[in-house]
Amino acid sequence: MQSDGDELVGEQFPRLRKIVRAVLQSWPEHQRFLGRSIKERSGPVLESSESIARMILELEDDDICRLCEDYKWMCARLQEEEVEFRRNGRYRYADFAQVQRLVYDDAAFMDRYLRGLLLSQALWVNHASAIDFYRRAFLSEAAGGARLLEIGPGHGLLLGLAMREGRFAAIAGWDVSATSIASTCAALKKLGLAQPADLRVADILEPPTGDDAFDLVVISEVLEHLERPDVALANLHRALAPGGKIFVNVPINSPAPDHIYLLRSPGEAIALVERGGFSIIEARHFPTAGYTIERAQRLGGTISSAIIAQARQAQATDRDNR
Ligand SMILES: C[S@@+](CC[C@H](N)C(=O)[O-])C[C@H]1O[C@@H](n2cnc3c(N)ncnc32)[C@H](O)[C@@H]1O
Repeated sequence: MQSDGDELVGEQFPRLRKIVRAVLQSWPEHQRFLGRSIKERSGPVLESSESIARMILELEDDDICRLCEDYKWMCARLQEEEVEFRRNGRYRYADFAQVQRLVYDDAAFMDRYLRGLLLSQALWVNHASAIDFYRRAFLSEAAGGARLLEIGPGHGLLLGLAMREGRFAAIAGWDVSATSIASTCAALKKLGLAQPADLRVADILEPPTGDDAFDLVVISEVLEHLERPDVALANLHRALAPGGKIFVNVPINSPAPDHIYLLRSPGEAIALVERGGFSIIEARHFPTAGYTIERAQRLGGTISSAIIAQARQAQATDRDNR
């Protein structure tokens, strides 16, 4: 019998329930995955998912059917890459030029993909847990008056959460894709966020120009899109004021049409951030639904690695000497 999904989500989470119901209406076969993905959340993560669901509805309530279709379409694209990954043990593409043509330069593809990804922030346990960690351990702990930069804001949810804190002196978002920047801009407007944000098309593989120094940098689901994530981290180190902090969220074993840099374990993610000149403050690793962390590592399942780190002083001194 087809379920409306209400048994998957308690009635104290009405927005999450509404989203799950809408997804299952257009995609009933997704019930098993969603059931697991919700059951595996702790109470605080569920509460956080409810407020993310509320933001998603603020953004998309007028066309939730289209949002669900785009999510289903994105999952189908990811499934194609999963088959390729399981067959060959690597991501399909390794250079940026290929994915630029196929993904970034295709505004319609990008638009659907970002909307699907937006919904996954409420639906996937690994994404919901990483975003909860970002809010509790990074945003809430930040000092008032800090200047925050996000690289690759895309759908705009993480930047929107930062702006809703209402405590930051400056907010900036840099993204290599004009479609993404347009999407971020539209999202912040729809969320009614009045604080001006400096949103621009910029490639994090290019050294930052200008004298901006940030206290906080966020780079979520971007490093795996780069040929040289080490260069991006070095550039972010330069963009940070001495002692500044970074929030990195990077997926392990996560095939997607635009993922080109494969990390195979949380240890590799941590080593990458440390080599970029950062000391780890806290790292949390969230497996995809249906996996424990041990099983995900053994079988090469997807894990979201979320890392909070601080810029080490030695390179901050290099920056001062330039
Ligand atoms: C998967 S989305 C991430 C969206 C959001 N940050 C999240 O965590 O869901 C990746 C974003 O990174 C951007 N991006 C990819 N390469 C980049 C680069 N070299 N410099 C800046 N942004 C980049 C893409 O355009 C896209 O908006």
